[in-house]
Amino acid sequence: MTAPKIVAVYGSPRRNGNTATLLQKAVEGARDGGAEVAEIVLRDLKMSPCLEIYGCKNAGECRLKDDFQKTRDHILASHGLMLASPVFFYTVSAHTKILMDRFQSLWVKKYWVDPRPRDPQKAQRKGLFIAVGATKGKKLFDGILLSLKYFFDVIDMELWKALLYRGLDFEGDVLKFPEYIDEAYEAGMEFAKALEDNVKG
Ligand SMILES: Cc1cc2nc3c(=O)[nH]c(=O)nc-3n(C[C@H](O)[C@H](O)[C@H](O)COP(=O)(O)O)c2cc1C
Repeated sequence: MTAPKIVAVYGSPRRNGNTATLLQKAVEGARDGGAEVAEIVLRDLKMSPCLEIYGCKNAGECRLKDDFQKTRDHILASHGLMLASPVFFYTVSAHTKILMDRFQSLWVKKYWVDPRPRDPQKAQRKGLFIAVGATKGKKLFDGILLSLKYFFDVIDMELWKALLYRGLDFEGDVLKFPEYIDEAYEAGMEFAKALEDNVKG
């Protein structure tokens, strides 16, 4: 059987911060579960924020040429995305938001350039989302999950699972919670299995 293809996107500016540690574990789990995983660290990429020039209005192609195109192509060629971001001002990090905003070109393609009825139940891809915030409020993840929902819609992705952790702030804080690390590993492994249906198409 063909191995499920997963793209793991590190959205924090910290290389070894809390979300990165959890995502590394999920990657390990997914590989042990039989998936092929490509890792992308957003802070290492050259990616401009969306400049809202709507060069994408003609053919749905972003006019800004940088690392967005290869990142987009990787994600669209995958069966699953594992995305990890810290909560920054109740939404995703700036690195993650830049990636999401650049996908506006795909939104334009989907809804303006090539509009046709689509069945929202027929998501082509699945997503595992990991988020971490320092505080403990009930609404900590409301904003980030809303941004994620609309981003996933653009890339025909169904949210398979969200791992959301409160009360983690300094680099290394997550290491005090081995149960979180184990959960991320297990989720990665289960995610690889869950993608088998997507591989079969
Ligand atoms: C710019 C910035 C904004 C932040 N905004 C929030 C916030 O709105 N709510 C919160 O609970 N924590 C907030 N934090 C704390 C981070 O979410 C927290 O430190 C997290 O553990 C960082 O994850 P990382 O190590 O993966 O980068 C913020 C941190 C920074 C640097």
